[in-house]
Amino acid sequence: MERSLTMELVRVTEAAALSSARWLGRGKKEEADDAATTAMRAVFDTVPMDGVVVIGEGEMDEAPMLYIGERLGMPGPNVPKVDVAVDPLEGTNIVAKGTWNALSVIAIADRGNLLHAPDMYMEKIAVGPEAKGKVHLEATVKENLDAVAKALGKEIADVVAIVLDRPRHSKLIEEIREAGARIKLISDGDVSAAINTAFPETGVDILFGIGGAPEGVIAAVALKCLGGELIGRLKPANEEEYERCKKMGLSNPEQILGMEDLVKGDDAIFAATGVTDGELLRGVRFMGKTARTHSVVMRAKSGTVRFIEAEHRLSTKPNLVIT
Ligand code: FBP
Repeated sequence: MERSLTMELVRVTEAAALSSARWLGRGKKEEADDAATTAMRAVFDTVPMDGVVVIGEGEMDEAPMLYIGERLGMPGPNVPKVDVAVDPLEGTNIVAKGTWNALSVIAIADRGNLLHAPDMYMEKIAVGPEAKGKVHLEATVKENLDAVAKALGKEIADVVAIVLDRPRHSKLIEEIREAGARIKLISDGDVSAAINTAFPETGVDILFGIGGAPEGVIAAVALKCLGGELIGRLKPANEEEYERCKKMGLSNPEQILGMEDLVKGDDAIFAATGVTDGELLRGVRFMGKTARTHSVVMRAKSGTVRFIEAEHRLSTKPNLVIT
């Protein structure tokens, strides 16, 4: 993959974040998502790559753009052939309510290297680099928390687990508390939650729980770039979901998926722009004639993590997008 793609992808997430942030706190999650999707799709046309959407806004008959199988980018003789996973707005409810950690995200890898995760639930554990290889989905919650505490050189009482606040997690939450660790419950947004485990300054050490499978693959790309780990297991809810897994080539749909199953190979790129404020990224700021964005872009091969603050002149981008 071309190194220069990293900057190109940030332009795409910036456009999506700028467009959806206009919907902050307006109670309209679909409009916020449509704005992000439309902006992201438009800017992709300017990126020199031959991309195929493997994780997107839905199947071709459900989504007008960024649907699974859609070709993206500006093809040419020497452009990289890549798999593309997008979530133009990760945290639609977050934007609707104006709360924390909504992102616009893209992950890419060489063609064939991303798991084509179907739109269903996935059980996940994610940790940063120090605890990589030390947590397991088959282990108990207490064993995993002990392992994280040891890896980070902390008391278990100082380990913070991050969990989506859902009734399905009530037993998990009880077990974390019984083990003596602390919990940060979030209303939405387990991509940022997973990534934050690799940044000590965000104050979270391990993500546990069930969230979207597509979000699991996207977060795995980020953690691959950061030297961390995400382990997943699909949770097909009915016969139809089982069949979908099998069609994807997973003979045992409930097998444990390690990093190499989620993102193959040693190269991948992840880019995200904050839509609303979060522990890692600030959200979009509109300041009259300009708007500010805060993004992160990283590449697995080099391990470089870049934070990018950009000031956008709104007179030259009246629709918040320039292609
Ligand atoms: P959307 O951006 O599609 O609203 O997803 C937000 C999210 O919280 C994800 O971060 C998470 O993986 C998933 O929804 C959890 O799903 P559910 O809300 O059904 O528990």
